[in-house]
Amino acid sequence: MRLDKFLCELNVGTRSQVKAYLKQGLVTVNGSVVKKPDEKVNESSDTVTFKGRLLKYQPFVYYMLNKPKGVVSATQDNTCKTVLDLIESDRKKNLFPVGRLDKDTEGLLLITNDGELAHNMLSPKKHVDKTYLVGIAHDLKSDDIQALEKGVDIGEDKLTLPAKVKVLSEKEILLTIHEGKFHQVKRMLQAVSNEVVALKRVTFGALTLDDNLKTGEYRELTLEEIGELHADGY
Ligand code: URA
Repeated sequence: MRLDKFLCELNVGTRSQVKAYLKQGLVTVNGSVVKKPDEKVNESSDTVTFKGRLLKYQPFVYYMLNKPKGVVSATQDNTCKTVLDLIESDRKKNLFPVGRLDKDTEGLLLITNDGELAHNMLSPKKHVDKTYLVGIAHDLKSDDIQALEKGVDIGEDKLTLPAKVKVLSEKEILLTIHEGKFHQVKRMLQAVSNEVVALKRVTFGALTLDDNLKTGEYRELTLEEIGELHADGY
């Protein structure tokens, strides 16, 4: 990779700032000052410093987005705003959302360029937990809770896997599921003759939606969060 691209990708500065930094002799590669922007570097084996600070190339980026209603979980769409339109990054080209939330669902969406992690987190075999804050039209009866916790018929070959229900109030529950079927939460509530009136995802695997993120806001995952995702075998 070109040295200037490498430096831009690590947010050292814009292309023109990077060029100026190089000219000023602020960048070393393997111990020698390099001033040429088109110098080739091997991002995994070369040692690059900027103002004496070692730069570690991280090929993957991970964002936690608090998805607002009205945007679609896609990389592009002809008519609707997408979740990627909300990300202001110069490294957007390979980013994608890990799974989908419905257009009218809010909450935690992971956006990354790490295809292997995404594949693993979405694999039906991994049973990654997802917790939703669900606004419901009618009070849940204890039979309904038992049914959801045992598994309900949503028209698939098998019943849903046992879910976990925590009743917060008459019209609000936390529902934890281990699958990610199309419209799953809405279909599960329908299966117990109820209706979802508001839906927000609050956890996804090891990740918990950051309370400080307003809808539409996002932040990079912390190194700890990234570590936890990988520690879970994703
Ligand atoms: N279940 C749904 O019904 N919709 C979502 O967006 C996510 C889970």
